[in-house]
Amino acid sequence: MKIVILTGAGVSAESGMGTFRDENGLWTQVDIEEVATPEAFARNPAKVHAFYNARRANCLAAAPNAAHFALAELQRSAHEVTLVTQNIDHLHELAGSEHVIHMHGEIMRALCVDCGHHWDAPAVMAVEDPCPSCTAARTRPDIVWFGEMPYQMARIEAALAVADLFVAVGTSGAVYPAAGFVRMADAMGADTLELNLAPSDVASDFADARYGVASEVVPAWVAEVMR
Ligand code: APR
Ligand code: ZN
Repeated sequence: MKIVILTGAGVSAESGMGTFRDENGLWTQVDIEEVATPEAFARNPAKVHAFYNARRANCLAAAPNAAHFALAELQRSAHEVTLVTQNIDHLHELAGSEHVIHMHGEIMRALCVDCGHHWDAPAVMAVEDPCPSCTAARTRPDIVWFGEMPYQMARIEAALAVADLFVAVGTSGAVYPAAGFVRMADAMGADTLELNLAPSDVASDFADARYGVASEVVPAWVAEVMR
């Protein structure tokens, strides 16, 4: 079976990564406009680097949970799995997943504004860091900010077009284009399943749903689909 899986912050919540829109979620504590837009970075790069340095430290201290491991196991099965994540953490990779499509970028990667070079980010990034390729002091976290185009959209849409099943895990369905994937998959004839703590904003677009914590719901579903 061709399966496209989209994960969101909920898959990493039990790894201590926090979410964005739950009660005391990240966006209830920090203003998106201050730290997660290109304008914020142009206005105050040191503040944006400090925000992502803190999130990078959080990621470096986190461990994958049973949901990440179950999805990695599914990828090693006979099913053809495309794993797309909105998360910038590397917990899918730490759990053994490969070819993860990070449509919102990766906290462990850096990007040069001047020459477009990508490289593995240091634990702490600073405004004065020179780009390893062109030496310009114009480096930023390789994260897709609000108002920027998500990565690898053509590859994601190609996978959705031929999917037998689309599964969303731990995402609120609040941010497009990711929130629209279920409708694209459904329109192309795929089955659709939501695995989440609570009904998402697009729950009614899914043919099926199971609610509970990812570390329980995801391994149970994976065991069923691998039977
Ligand atoms: N298990 C499963 N689901 C959970 C858990 C859990 N333990 N804890 C929370 N959830 C669910 C919540 O019910 C919610 O639907 O995870 C979802 C988290 O939603 P958001 O905080 O909005 O995170 P996400 O959907 O990933 O946000 C999408 O928005 O801010 C941008 O770029 C950012 O990638 C992010 C995007
Ligand atoms: Zn450069």
